[in-house]
Amino acid sequence: MINFETLHTRFGARVTGIDLADDLDDETFAKLREGFASHSVLVFPDQPLTDEQQIAFSKRLGPLEATKVGSYGAGTPLVILSNVGEDGNVVPDDHRLNMVHKANSLWHSDSSFKPTPALASMLSAKTVPPEGGETEYASMIVAWDDLPEDTKAKIDGKIALHHFAASRNRINPELMTQAEYDELPPVKQIMVRDIPETGKKSLYVGSHASAIVGMPDDEAKQLIDELVAFATAPERVYTHTWRANDVVLWDNRAVVHRGRPFARDKHARVMIRTTIAGDSPTVRV
Ligand code: OGA
Ligand code: MN
Repeated sequence: MINFETLHTRFGARVTGIDLADDLDDETFAKLREGFASHSVLVFPDQPLTDEQQIAFSKRLGPLEATKVGSYGAGTPLVILSNVGEDGNVVPDDHRLNMVHKANSLWHSDSSFKPTPALASMLSAKTVPPEGGETEYASMIVAWDDLPEDTKAKIDGKIALHHFAASRNRINPELMTQAEYDELPPVKQIMVRDIPETGKKSLYVGSHASAIVGMPDDEAKQLIDELVAFATAPERVYTHTWRANDVVLWDNRAVVHRGRPFARDKHARVMIRTTIAGDSPTVRV
């Protein structure tokens, strides 16, 4: 029997009593889908999935994104987050593979830089470092609920520009490739989203957001930073400490997340992500 246990007082659940490698019956899957929308982050311990099993389960939630140009796994449904080089050894701290993890250490929602941003991400831990390398989640539904009314009024209905370069350039201005500039121009995203299944609203900003339509850039950048800082205050954060074979499924409409540092030049960390596409842009173009 599928079972949900609360992880944080306001969002997140640990899910036991199911095997994600199974072809779940419709009733169990419906409970899981409902739990996904109501808890925003689902943690499934002890799920040693093959890539095919992860893809098969993810596909039940919707069509998968193809991994973007410039990422490890490009063109396939898998994003490979790894600091292990082709020779089987951990790569140096300044290696490109580690840059991905460093960029992921800024609070973000996956694929908010795409015209149709991701619905969900599913990350499975293959190799985890003995310490560090946690992933943190902050609920943007909770953040929206807690925002002062005057701030809500200021941003409701506003549109932000999201650009992959905005997050990469914060880590290293040389990180963006020409192919990434060409294929990923800035996109518009609504700043406050509706989650249709629950009728909740969520704040939608993160490290890819670089500007707000109709607002001077300095003011917009400051507001975006303030909103992210508010949303990710420690009391609104769930920290997931990974064990090998943990699977975490999160709702990119409803949370931002970030990776935490670890001794990248000492310990291996290998994670596999599938990304479930959203069904439409957040802004009518
Ligand atoms: C991701 C991500 C952070 C981490 O997989 O989308 O941001 O801790 N991961 O690896
Ligand atoms: Mn991410």
